[in-house]
Amino acid sequence: MTKEWMPESWRNHTAAQMPDYSDAEALASVEAKLAGYPPLVFAGEARRLRKRLAEVCEGQAFMLQGGDCAEAFADFNPNSIRDTLRVLLQMSVVLTYGAALPVVKVGRLAGQFAKPRSSNTEVQDGVELPSYRGDIVNGMAFDAKSRKPDPERQLQAYAQAAASLNLLRALTQGGFASLNRVHSWNLDFVESSRQSERYQELADRITDAVAFMEACGVSDISTPDIRRTTLYTSHEALLLGFEEAMTRIDSTSGRWYDTSAHLVWIGERTRQLDGAHVEFCRGIANPIGVKAGPNMSGEDLLRLCDVLNPTNKPGKLTVITRMGVETLQEGLPPLIRAIEREGRKVVWTCDPMHGNTIKSNGGYKTRPFDRIVGEVDAFLQIHRAEGTHAGGLHIEMTGQDVTECTGGAQEITAEDLQNRYHTQCDPRLNASQSLELAFLIANSLKEARIADRIAAQ
Ligand code: PEP
Ligand code: CO
Repeated sequence: MTKEWMPESWRNHTAAQMPDYSDAEALASVEAKLAGYPPLVFAGEARRLRKRLAEVCEGQAFMLQGGDCAEAFADFNPNSIRDTLRVLLQMSVVLTYGAALPVVKVGRLAGQFAKPRSSNTEVQDGVELPSYRGDIVNGMAFDAKSRKPDPERQLQAYAQAAASLNLLRALTQGGFASLNRVHSWNLDFVESSRQSERYQELADRITDAVAFMEACGVSDISTPDIRRTTLYTSHEALLLGFEEAMTRIDSTSGRWYDTSAHLVWIGERTRQLDGAHVEFCRGIANPIGVKAGPNMSGEDLLRLCDVLNPTNKPGKLTVITRMGVETLQEGLPPLIRAIEREGRKVVWTCDPMHGNTIKSNGGYKTRPFDRIVGEVDAFLQIHRAEGTHAGGLHIEMTGQDVTECTGGAQEITAEDLQNRYHTQCDPRLNASQSLELAFLIANSLKEARIADRIAAQ
């Protein structure tokens, strides 16, 4: 790997998962246009996120990253953005209480359009067409016209990301995020849950805490900070031509920033050390994530740290483990030990979605809630045993009442999946399942804190 880096140097490396654009000129013209468009996020914001993630790295904060598997052009409306944000904020209040730590909130939003696929083509009834690679690349409908990669779609993705960000910025700054409003969540699921008493107790305590603060004069008028919050954005840095076009030099620091999102991550299928995606990400100053599936070894991870975080800055690199509930117990400890042995700084987060996907009810991709909870539990326990900080959670979720993952207090069955299965790609937790997961994690974190306190006495 050469030392010099430019936003286009990835082009000299093998790039997995790239669409096959037939019209190179049309592609180049779109990329040139994008390169002249305003940044979606600002370098200073990405730097602030890096600092917040440094706090997560040092065990002083928790990270919550969530949103769609793939955003869709057809499903673009303010209500779904608002509802997803609301659930993220509610989860973050519950986690703040459980962890007794601030929560750094990062959406898989406003740019999560490109998808890696296990196969380049898809066959239906003997017809073979290019696989769907996300709305930024081609259309989902199974016909030759929709499936042909179309560069113009990148301009629509940019426009949708810009409008989404505009709404998110308004909602997070304008009172929607006020603690008094956020905590009045819908607890319907509590009643039907096996854990109902524990949930209710936790919810009551949070309500009491908010009432106590208000009685002490801490209201959103006296303390405007509780009306506002910051939601950072993130997506997989997959479609490198788009990411390159959005990469600009920051005049304050003189460094390159990918201004398409605050954080971008490298997916499980594109993390080859000498591949184009690692090459691109090593040169940008944004915080970076990297997925770690069951085949990631301690050595692989250390080499990725060498390339992606050569100065060992805390908060620069987030490792997102996604091994599946059966594999995490074997797969995670060697990674933690390698990182600890060499004194590397990483944020550890858990993606309990991508290693727990199964097919059910005649082919629906789903994720049983119990498996998701099982992987998060194992993640928390392993970090506790290793003495490292379980830094956060990375989930695919929506604020809508979909039926894509089975289980949870609503007891969604395999037969229910067909009722409201709306995802463009992978199955997401619905609003109720997301909040339930946050309650479960908050309980575990709280119990661990109490146990530590008793042990220290
Ligand atoms: C994703 O996060 O949607 C994804 C494709 O994940 P992974 O790269 O871990 O498979
Ligand atoms: Co996914």
